Amino acid sequence: IKKIGVLTSGGDAPGMNAAIRAVVRAGFYYKLDVFGIYRGYEGMINNDIRKLDSHSIAHVLERGGTFLKSARSEEFRTEEGRKKAYENLKSHGIQALVVIGGDGSLTGAHLFYKEFGIPAIGLPGTIDNDLFGTDQTIGFDTACNTAIEAIDKIRDTATSHDRLFFVEVMGRDAGFIAINAGIGSAAAAILIPEKKFPVEKLIDRLKIREKAKKESNVVIVAEGGKSGGAQEIAHKVKKIFPGYDIKVTILGHLQRGGAPSSFDRILASKLGVSAVEGLLHGKYDVMVGIINNKIVFTPIKRAIVDDKKVDEEELRIAGILST
Ligand code: F6P
Repeated sequence: IKKIGVLTSGGDAPGMNAAIRAVVRAGFYYKLDVFGIYRGYEGMINNDIRKLDSHSIAHVLERGGTFLKSARSEEFRTEEGRKKAYENLKSHGIQALVVIGGDGSLTGAHLFYKEFGIPAIGLPGTIDNDLFGTDQTIGFDTACNTAIEAIDKIRDTATSHDRLFFVEVMGRDAGFIAINAGIGSAAAAILIPEKKFPVEKLIDRLKIREKAKKESNVVIVAEGGKSGGAQEIAHKVKKIFPGYDIKVTILGHLQRGGAPSSFDRILASKLGVSAVEGLLHGKYDVMVGIINNKIVFTPIKRAIVDDKKVDEEELRIAGILST
Protein backbone atom coordinates (compact mmCIF):
# COMPACT_ATOMS: atom_id res chain seq x y z
CA ILE A 1 0.00 0.00 0.00
CA LYS A 2 1.42 3.36 -1.06
CA LYS A 3 -1.63 5.64 -1.12
CA ILE A 4 -4.38 5.83 1.47
CA GLY A 5 -7.49 7.97 1.90
CA VAL A 6 -8.97 9.26 5.16
CA LEU A 7 -12.48 10.53 5.78
CA THR A 8 -14.85 11.50 8.57
CA SER A 9 -18.50 10.66 8.21
CA GLY A 10 -21.78 10.87 10.15
CA GLY A 11 -22.18 13.05 13.25
CA ASP A 12 -18.96 14.86 14.06
CA ALA A 13 -17.18 14.35 17.38
CA PRO A 14 -14.45 16.27 19.23
CA GLY A 15 -11.16 14.48 18.59
CA MET A 16 -11.85 13.68 14.94
CA ASN A 17 -9.24 16.25 13.90
CA ALA A 18 -6.72 14.66 16.25
CA ALA A 19 -7.49 11.29 14.65
CA ILE A 20 -7.04 12.61 11.10
CA ARG A 21 -3.76 14.23 12.12
CA ALA A 22 -2.50 10.96 13.59
CA VAL A 23 -3.43 9.06 10.42
CA VAL A 24 -1.64 11.64 8.25
CA ARG A 25 1.46 11.78 10.46
CA ALA A 26 1.69 7.99 10.66
CA GLY A 27 1.16 7.82 6.90
CA PHE A 28 4.12 10.16 6.33
CA TYR A 29 6.21 8.20 8.82
CA TYR A 30 5.61 5.05 6.77
CA LYS A 31 6.22 6.95 3.49
CA LEU A 32 2.65 6.85 2.26
CA ASP A 33 0.69 9.47 0.31
CA VAL A 34 -2.39 10.44 2.29
CA PHE A 35 -5.49 11.86 0.61
CA GLY A 36 -8.23 13.73 2.47
CA ILE A 37 -11.72 12.81 1.29
CA TYR A 38 -13.99 15.76 2.12
CA ARG A 39 -17.58 15.46 3.43
CA GLY A 40 -17.35 11.72 3.99
CA TYR A 41 -18.76 9.41 1.35
CA GLU A 42 -20.35 12.41 -0.42
CA GLY A 43 -16.85 13.64 -1.22
CA MET A 44 -15.86 10.20 -2.47
CA ILE A 45 -18.77 10.28 -4.90
CA ASN A 46 -18.20 13.93 -5.93
CA ASN A 47 -14.44 13.51 -6.20
CA ASP A 48 -13.80 16.04 -3.45
CA ILE A 49 -10.43 14.48 -2.74
CA ARG A 50 -7.14 16.27 -2.09
CA LYS A 51 -3.66 15.15 -1.20
CA LEU A 52 -2.78 16.26 2.33
CA ASP A 53 0.55 17.70 3.42
CA SER A 54 1.94 18.63 6.80
CA HIS A 55 0.40 22.12 6.54
CA SER A 56 -3.08 20.60 6.22
CA ILE A 57 -2.80 19.17 9.70
CA ALA A 58 -1.08 22.06 11.48
CA HIS A 59 -3.00 23.20 14.57
CA VAL A 60 -5.92 20.83 14.13
CA LEU A 61 -5.22 18.50 17.08
CA GLU A 62 -6.80 20.95 19.53
CA ARG A 63 -9.79 21.92 17.40
CA GLY A 64 -13.31 20.54 17.66
CA GLY A 65 -15.30 19.43 14.61
CA THR A 66 -13.57 17.92 11.60
CA PHE A 67 -11.61 19.94 9.04
CA LEU A 68 -12.40 17.25 6.45
CA LYS A 69 -16.07 18.03 7.14
CA SER A 70 -18.74 15.41 7.51
CA ALA A 71 -21.98 14.38 5.87
CA ARG A 72 -24.52 11.59 5.78
CA SER A 73 -24.64 10.30 2.19
CA GLU A 74 -27.85 8.85 0.77
CA GLU A 75 -26.20 8.20 -2.60
CA PHE A 76 -23.54 5.97 -1.04
CA ARG A 77 -26.35 3.67 0.05
CA THR A 78 -26.94 2.86 -3.64
CA GLU A 79 -24.74 0.52 -5.70
CA GLU A 80 -24.44 3.19 -8.37
CA GLY A 81 -23.16 5.73 -5.83
CA ARG A 82 -20.58 3.31 -4.48
CA LYS A 83 -19.41 2.50 -8.03
CA LYS A 84 -18.86 6.22 -8.71
CA ALA A 85 -16.94 6.50 -5.44
CA TYR A 86 -14.76 3.53 -6.38
CA GLU A 87 -13.92 5.03 -9.80
CA ASN A 88 -12.85 8.27 -8.11
CA LEU A 89 -10.60 6.46 -5.64
CA LYS A 90 -9.05 4.55 -8.55
CA SER A 91 -8.38 7.76 -10.45
CA HIS A 92 -6.26 9.00 -7.52
CA GLY A 93 -4.60 5.61 -7.05
CA ILE A 94 -5.98 5.31 -3.48
CA GLN A 95 -5.52 1.70 -2.36
CA ALA A 96 -6.89 1.73 1.20
CA LEU A 97 -9.18 3.75 3.45
CA VAL A 98 -9.34 4.94 7.04
CA VAL A 99 -12.93 5.76 7.96
CA ILE A 100 -13.61 7.75 11.14
CA GLY A 101 -17.22 7.72 12.32
CA GLY A 102 -20.09 5.88 13.96
CA ASP A 103 -21.92 2.70 12.99
CA GLY A 104 -23.37 4.07 9.71
CA SER A 105 -19.94 5.18 8.56
CA LEU A 106 -18.35 1.83 9.42
CA THR A 107 -21.18 -0.02 7.64
CA GLY A 108 -20.23 1.95 4.51
CA ALA A 109 -16.59 0.91 4.85
CA HIS A 110 -17.58 -2.74 5.29
CA LEU A 111 -19.81 -2.71 2.19
CA PHE A 112 -17.14 -0.99 0.12
CA TYR A 113 -14.55 -3.57 1.13
CA LYS A 114 -16.91 -6.41 0.31
CA GLU A 115 -17.89 -5.02 -3.10
CA PHE A 116 -14.61 -3.59 -4.37
CA GLY A 117 -11.98 -5.18 -2.14
CA ILE A 118 -10.67 -1.77 -1.00
CA PRO A 119 -8.96 -2.47 2.33
CA ALA A 120 -10.67 -0.35 4.96
CA ILE A 121 -10.13 0.17 8.63
CA GLY A 122 -12.55 1.99 10.92
CA LEU A 123 -11.96 4.36 13.83
CA PRO A 124 -14.78 4.78 16.37
CA GLY A 125 -15.73 8.45 16.18
CA THR A 126 -19.01 9.35 17.85
CA ILE A 127 -19.99 11.11 21.04
CA ASP A 128 -22.58 8.37 21.71
CA ASN A 129 -20.00 5.71 22.71
CA ASP A 130 -22.26 3.04 21.21
CA LEU A 131 -19.68 0.96 19.34
CA PHE A 132 -18.72 -2.52 20.41
CA GLY A 133 -14.96 -3.20 20.36
CA THR A 134 -13.70 -0.18 22.26
CA ASP A 135 -14.10 1.00 25.84
CA GLN A 136 -14.65 4.56 24.66
CA THR A 137 -15.27 6.19 21.31
CA ILE A 138 -13.54 9.39 20.19
CA GLY A 139 -15.57 12.38 21.41
CA PHE A 140 -17.47 10.69 24.22
CA ASP A 141 -15.26 12.02 27.02
CA THR A 142 -15.43 15.61 25.74
CA ALA A 143 -19.21 15.40 25.28
CA CYS A 144 -19.62 14.17 28.87
CA ASN A 145 -17.43 17.00 30.17
CA THR A 146 -19.45 19.53 28.16
CA ALA A 147 -22.74 18.12 29.45
CA ILE A 148 -21.53 18.13 33.07
CA GLU A 149 -20.32 21.72 32.79
CA ALA A 150 -23.72 22.78 31.46
CA ILE A 151 -25.63 20.81 34.11
CA ASP A 152 -23.55 22.41 36.90
CA LYS A 153 -24.78 25.78 35.69
CA ILE A 154 -28.36 24.57 35.54
CA ARG A 155 -28.03 23.30 39.10
CA ASP A 156 -27.10 26.78 40.35
CA THR A 157 -30.31 28.28 39.08
CA ALA A 158 -32.36 25.19 40.00
CA THR A 159 -31.21 25.57 43.61
CA SER A 160 -31.86 29.32 43.75
CA HIS A 161 -35.45 28.85 42.58
CA ASP A 162 -36.28 25.46 44.15
CA ARG A 163 -37.00 24.10 40.70
CA LEU A 164 -37.06 20.65 39.23
CA PHE A 165 -35.10 20.48 35.96
CA PHE A 166 -35.23 17.87 33.24
CA VAL A 167 -32.06 18.03 31.18
CA GLU A 168 -32.01 16.15 27.89
CA VAL A 169 -28.64 14.91 26.67
CA MET A 170 -27.75 13.29 23.33
CA GLY A 171 -27.86 9.56 22.67
CA ARG A 172 -30.47 8.54 20.14
CA ASP A 173 -30.21 4.86 21.02
CA ALA A 174 -27.70 4.87 23.81
CA GLY A 175 -27.57 6.05 27.41
CA PHE A 176 -23.80 6.32 27.86
CA ILE A 177 -23.66 10.13 27.95
CA ALA A 178 -26.69 10.25 30.25
CA ILE A 179 -25.16 7.81 32.74
CA ASN A 180 -21.77 9.53 32.87
CA ALA A 181 -23.18 13.03 32.95
CA GLY A 182 -25.75 11.93 35.53
CA ILE A 183 -23.22 10.43 37.93
CA GLY A 184 -20.86 13.34 37.36
CA SER A 185 -23.50 15.96 38.14
CA ALA A 186 -25.36 14.30 41.04
CA ALA A 187 -28.56 13.69 39.08
CA ALA A 188 -31.78 12.84 40.93
CA ALA A 189 -32.46 10.19 38.28
CA ILE A 190 -31.06 9.03 34.93
CA LEU A 191 -33.43 7.90 32.17
CA ILE A 192 -31.87 5.96 29.28
CA PRO A 193 -33.10 4.13 26.15
CA GLU A 194 -31.77 0.75 27.34
CA LYS A 195 -33.83 0.57 30.55
CA LYS A 196 -37.42 1.24 31.54
CA PHE A 197 -37.80 3.88 34.24
CA PRO A 198 -41.56 4.24 34.84
CA VAL A 199 -42.85 7.70 35.77
CA GLU A 200 -44.21 6.19 39.02
CA LYS A 201 -40.69 5.21 40.04
CA LEU A 202 -39.47 8.71 39.25
CA ILE A 203 -42.26 10.20 41.36
CA ASP A 204 -41.29 7.93 44.29
CA ARG A 205 -37.68 9.01 43.92
CA LEU A 206 -38.66 12.69 43.95
CA LYS A 207 -40.83 12.16 47.06
CA ILE A 208 -37.92 10.53 48.91
CA ARG A 209 -35.70 13.43 47.94
CA GLU A 210 -38.33 15.92 49.10
CA LYS A 211 -38.39 14.23 52.51
CA ALA A 212 -34.61 14.33 52.62
CA LYS A 213 -34.91 18.09 52.00
CA LYS A 214 -32.76 18.04 48.88
CA GLU A 215 -32.11 21.58 47.68
CA SER A 216 -32.46 20.89 43.99
CA ASN A 217 -33.45 18.16 41.57
CA VAL A 218 -31.93 17.65 38.15
CA VAL A 219 -33.13 14.63 36.19
CA ILE A 220 -31.04 13.56 33.19
CA VAL A 221 -32.92 12.16 30.21
CA ALA A 222 -31.23 10.60 27.15
CA GLU A 223 -32.95 11.83 24.00
CA GLY A 224 -33.93 8.30 23.00
CA GLY A 225 -35.35 7.43 26.44
CA LYS A 226 -37.96 4.66 26.71
CA SER A 227 -40.40 6.90 28.59
CA GLY A 228 -40.00 9.75 26.06
CA GLY A 229 -37.85 12.85 25.82
CA ALA A 230 -37.37 15.43 28.58
CA GLN A 231 -40.42 17.50 27.50
CA GLU A 232 -42.70 14.50 27.55
CA ILE A 233 -41.58 13.30 30.97
CA ALA A 234 -41.72 16.80 32.44
CA HIS A 235 -45.29 17.02 31.20
CA LYS A 236 -46.26 13.72 32.86
CA VAL A 237 -44.64 14.70 36.17
CA LYS A 238 -46.31 18.13 36.12
CA LYS A 239 -49.70 16.43 35.80
CA ILE A 240 -49.04 14.42 38.96
CA PHE A 241 -47.26 17.22 40.85
CA PRO A 242 -48.95 20.43 39.67
CA GLY A 243 -47.24 22.31 42.51
CA TYR A 244 -43.74 21.60 41.20
CA ASP A 245 -41.93 24.40 39.37
CA ILE A 246 -40.58 22.43 36.44
CA LYS A 247 -38.19 23.52 33.66
CA VAL A 248 -36.73 21.64 30.70
CA THR A 249 -33.33 22.19 29.05
CA ILE A 250 -32.28 20.36 25.91
CA LEU A 251 -28.50 20.49 25.58
CA GLY A 252 -28.53 19.44 21.91
CA HIS A 253 -25.66 19.97 19.53
CA LEU A 254 -23.48 21.94 21.90
CA GLN A 255 -22.44 18.47 23.10
CA ARG A 256 -20.89 17.78 19.70
CA GLY A 257 -18.60 20.82 19.62
CA GLY A 258 -15.65 22.22 21.52
CA ALA A 259 -11.98 21.46 21.91
CA PRO A 260 -11.34 17.78 22.60
CA SER A 261 -10.37 16.78 26.15
CA SER A 262 -6.90 15.41 26.82
CA PHE A 263 -8.42 11.93 26.96
CA ASP A 264 -9.97 12.27 23.49
CA ARG A 265 -6.80 13.77 22.00
CA ILE A 266 -4.72 10.86 23.26
CA LEU A 267 -7.28 8.21 22.35
CA ALA A 268 -7.63 9.63 18.82
CA SER A 269 -3.86 9.85 18.41
CA LYS A 270 -3.28 6.24 19.49
CA LEU A 271 -6.11 4.95 17.29
CA GLY A 272 -5.00 6.97 14.25
CA VAL A 273 -1.46 5.59 14.32
CA SER A 274 -2.72 2.05 15.02
CA ALA A 275 -5.12 2.26 12.08
CA VAL A 276 -2.30 2.97 9.62
CA GLU A 277 -0.11 0.26 11.14
CA GLY A 278 -3.08 -2.12 11.04
CA LEU A 279 -3.57 -1.48 7.32
CA LEU A 280 0.12 -2.05 6.65
CA HIS A 281 -0.10 -5.36 8.52
CA GLY A 282 -3.06 -6.55 6.46
CA LYS A 283 -5.79 -5.87 9.01
CA TYR A 284 -8.75 -5.10 6.77
CA ASP A 285 -12.46 -4.68 7.41
CA VAL A 286 -11.84 -4.12 11.12
CA MET A 287 -12.39 -1.33 13.60
CA VAL A 288 -9.51 -0.36 15.84
CA GLY A 289 -10.37 0.31 19.46
CA ILE A 290 -8.86 0.28 22.93
CA ILE A 291 -10.03 -2.23 25.53
CA ASN A 292 -8.36 -2.29 28.95
CA ASN A 293 -5.61 -0.06 27.60
CA LYS A 294 -4.75 -2.44 24.76
CA ILE A 295 -5.22 -1.81 21.04
CA VAL A 296 -7.81 -4.26 19.73
CA PHE A 297 -8.99 -4.94 16.16
CA THR A 298 -12.64 -6.02 15.90
CA PRO A 299 -14.31 -7.07 12.63
CA ILE A 300 -16.46 -4.11 11.55
CA LYS A 301 -19.44 -6.42 11.25
CA ARG A 302 -19.20 -7.22 14.96
CA ALA A 303 -18.56 -3.63 15.98
CA ILE A 304 -21.78 -2.50 14.35
CA VAL A 305 -24.02 -5.49 15.01
CA ASP A 306 -23.08 -6.45 18.57
CA ASP A 307 -24.70 -4.25 21.16
CA LYS A 308 -22.41 -2.42 23.49
CA LYS A 309 -24.08 -2.86 26.87
CA VAL A 310 -24.39 -0.08 29.41
CA ASP A 311 -22.52 -0.81 32.61
CA GLU A 312 -25.00 -2.23 35.15
CA GLU A 313 -22.60 -1.43 37.96
CA GLU A 314 -22.59 2.25 36.99
CA LEU A 315 -26.38 2.25 37.00
CA ARG A 316 -26.45 0.63 40.44
CA ILE A 317 -24.04 3.21 41.77
CA ALA A 318 -26.06 6.03 40.23
CA GLY A 319 -29.16 4.63 41.98
CA ILE A 320 -27.45 4.61 45.38
CA LEU A 321 -26.12 8.13 44.93
CA SER A 322 -29.39 9.68 43.87
CA THR A 323 -31.67 8.54 46.69
O1 F6P B 1 -23.49 11.94 16.98
C1 F6P B 1 -24.54 11.12 17.43
C2 F6P B 1 -25.73 11.96 17.66
O2 F6P B 1 -25.26 12.99 18.44
C3 F6P B 1 -26.96 11.37 18.31
O3 F6P B 1 -26.89 11.24 19.70
C4 F6P B 1 -28.04 12.30 17.84
O4 F6P B 1 -29.30 11.75 17.88
C5 F6P B 1 -27.60 12.56 16.45
O5 F6P B 1 -26.20 12.47 16.44
C6 F6P B 1 -28.08 13.83 15.84
O6 F6P B 1 -27.30 14.12 14.73
P1 F6P B 1 -27.68 15.06 13.51
O7 F6P B 1 -28.31 16.26 14.07
O8 F6P B 1 -26.38 15.32 12.88
O9 F6P B 1 -28.60 14.28 12.66
